[in-house]
Amino acid sequence: AAKSDDVLRSPVLCVLGHVDTGKTKMLDTIRRTNVQLGEAGGITQQLGATRVPAEAIIQRCGRVKGFTPEKVKIPGFLIIDTPGHESFANLRSRGSSLCDFAILVVDIMHGIEPQTLESIKLLIKRKTPFVVALNKVDRLYGYESNPQKDIYQHLKSQNMNTQLEFKERYEKIVVEFAEQGINVILAPDNKDVNEYISMVPTSAQLGDGVGNIMAYIVEHSQKYLSDRLGYIEDVDCTVMEVRSLPGLGTTIDVILVNGTLKTSDIIVLTGTDGPIVTQIRDILMPAPLREIRVKADYEHYKEIKGSQSVKILAKNLDKCVAGLPLFVCNRTDELEILKKDAHDQLQKALTSIKKKAEGVYVQASTLGSLEALLEFLKTQKIPYSNVNIGPVHKKDVQKAATMLEHNSEFACILAFDVPVDREVQQFADREGVRIFQANIIYHLEDSFLKYREELRL
Ligand code: GTP
Ligand code: MG
Ligand code: NA
Repeated sequence: AAKSDDVLRSPVLCVLGHVDTGKTKMLDTIRRTNVQLGEAGGITQQLGATRVPAEAIIQRCGRVKGFTPEKVKIPGFLIIDTPGHESFANLRSRGSSLCDFAILVVDIMHGIEPQTLESIKLLIKRKTPFVVALNKVDRLYGYESNPQKDIYQHLKSQNMNTQLEFKERYEKIVVEFAEQGINVILAPDNKDVNEYISMVPTSAQLGDGVGNIMAYIVEHSQKYLSDRLGYIEDVDCTVMEVRSLPGLGTTIDVILVNGTLKTSDIIVLTGTDGPIVTQIRDILMPAPLREIRVKADYEHYKEIKGSQSVKILAKNLDKCVAGLPLFVCNRTDELEILKKDAHDQLQKALTSIKKKAEGVYVQASTLGSLEALLEFLKTQKIPYSNVNIGPVHKKDVQKAATMLEHNSEFACILAFDVPVDREVQQFADREGVRIFQANIIYHLEDSFLKYREELRL
């Protein structure tokens, strides 16, 4: 592959951690936005992506000790936000599989929690380097915030009791990591990155330490990841989410790590009904420091180089499955091979889903959310007999209706984060199929369990 050593791409960073540790808040502070407040139930349920240009990093790192703007050689960061809720293991796995480096967010008041552990396992399995954000330091008793200062210097200026509480909590967390076989230490004291994982105290809410963690990632990635960050022309692109947007139809959000995408490129994707071959009509990108999840004024591009997160407009994207690669077809004789590759990708994913003869019909917006929902149903011992991705259609209702002959309590569809047309709803009413719809996973489970109880009365 053609590799130009002097051109670095942005590292793809993934923010991982237990639910409500402050992952989205951290990004909001970096972006100066308020995405977290707009989330249903205050929890993240999809992957998000934001590009943070070098200028924004430099601005934020102004007061960080030892940091100078000339040191920044990367064009910026591309940051992927992931959900911490236990149901979204699949999205954490998808997000972390795309990244060069991760930020593991730990709530300093709580220490290691179940999804912290799960995230650590993912990172170790994939050998992904990471830094720990010891977040919510502002909750230490008596803490006085100053987001303008270098966090390590600032901690030393807190009153004695606050410093003591920090030390105690810090030491407890060091032990918790040690129990997992991981050595952690405050970043400035880390003399050997092969032995120790660095920790940076932060307040995602108030901004303290956010400059320090950004400066750390710049330095670490330029020093240790520069080989990996050399831009190459071979397309390395993954569909992150498939979203239907008013006025735009079905679009795909992709992470382009390497290579170039152009309008009019012929692309091959995995679809629920077989491979999709289509042509890129438009490439949209949110402004810098804007989240791709949030409906915004996108900028149009004719050509885009990795690493970037972009929205692609093209025909026939309705059945596209998220989490799988996008291939660019450069020569017509490649097309059949790429179609087979795309087909095999989904077969692998769907055959791994084990279904029961009797059970509910499950439908979700993406493969990731489907698998997350199934994971949740398993823990609740709710069996499923069939699954699908995308909006609920009449044929889904018909399939769910077959349960009426077997076990009528299962003649229902659990529809997560997908639309149900009124016409389809009426059809379901006539057929005797119940449709439960929600955009928070455990609300679906609640309504199903309630319905099941009613049936038994
Ligand atoms: P999920 O995406 O649902 O896993 O959560 P998250 O990790 O993205 O956490 P989120 O940003 O949604 O924050 C959860 C709650 O913690 C919100 O109420 C935030 O305002 C609060 N929070 C986040 N960071 C901080 C912090 O540094 N200090 C304090 N005091 N609160 C914080
Ligand atoms: Mg979040
Ligand atoms: Na949250």
